[in-house]
Amino acid sequence: MAGSFALNTGASIPSVGLGTWQIKPEVVGDTIYAAVKAGYRHIDCAPAYSNETEVGLALKKLFEDGVAKREELFITSKLWSGNHAPEDVPEAIDTTLKDLQLDYLDLFLIHGPIRIRKGTTHIPENLIPTDIPATWGAMEKLYDSGKARAIGVSNFTCKKMEDLLAVARVPPAVNQVECHLIWQQAKLRELCQSRGVHLSAHSPLGEASVLSNPVVISVAEKLQKTPAQVALRWSLQMGQSVLPKSTNEARIKENFDIFDWSIPKDLMAELSGIKQERLLKAEFAVHPLSIYKTLEDLWDGEI
Ligand code: A2P
Repeated sequence: MAGSFALNTGASIPSVGLGTWQIKPEVVGDTIYAAVKAGYRHIDCAPAYSNETEVGLALKKLFEDGVAKREELFITSKLWSGNHAPEDVPEAIDTTLKDLQLDYLDLFLIHGPIRIRKGTTHIPENLIPTDIPATWGAMEKLYDSGKARAIGVSNFTCKKMEDLLAVARVPPAVNQVECHLIWQQAKLRELCQSRGVHLSAHSPLGEASVLSNPVVISVAEKLQKTPAQVALRWSLQMGQSVLPKSTNEARIKENFDIFDWSIPKDLMAELSGIKQERLLKAEFAVHPLSIYKTLEDLWDGEI
């Protein structure tokens, strides 16, 4: 049985979702169709991935073919860094809803603590200071309107979470961050759990780096599972949902076959000893012109 986690809104988030970052528009439709047929009920999207129109076409086909109903799916999307101005937030979700051919999102996240001038790209000259309290105020209005049934953030550190929690009227339901066996996020997980924020793990295979880790391989051999399954199952046992990406049907199914077995305590302890390194550092946001002069600034020392 596929599982889910409770959100602070009272809704539940399916424990395994398909990530769509870096999946090319020409293959994303078939990928989503295969995933939902295999049992996935959560799709993680973003306008920044330049494939939401194709995701929308695939969702429409899944509904028309009767593979799943809208209310059975959990669809996440994100606010692009160029749309942080409070007046731009409603238009941003409307564009995403139009592209996805939906009338509400289950979860809408601020994509990251990074802001650029409207209509521009991620080059240093376009980086401008964030005003998260103001942007969050506009996100809260989307929650009030029902267009976003839950709101949250992505790529926020402990400090950025605490700053947001201090001003939020509607507390964030989710913080979606890089989290996997090579970057386990122990401190952030503890903070999120203590404040009722669900941690969702993007890049849960460390973009495949986790799969060649000798400790992961040895645990997988002991359990007669694949390294990917061990990596994903570890996340579920830590209480976080996972958003693995794959365009390969066999691997899509393999990544969903993690519900009817578990990693015993002693092997969980072995996994917790893996040497830690943040793999996705977002160096593009660090620049003398940026509010983040160093990676330490961007990640508030969590590096
Ligand atoms: P592919 O699409 O060819 O399956 P992450 O989700 O951490 O970003 O990792 C995504 C990467 O891991 C992709 O390169 C994907 O390639 C690969 N991948 C996903 N699932 C598996 C799996 N079960 N076994 C091996 N590689 C996988």
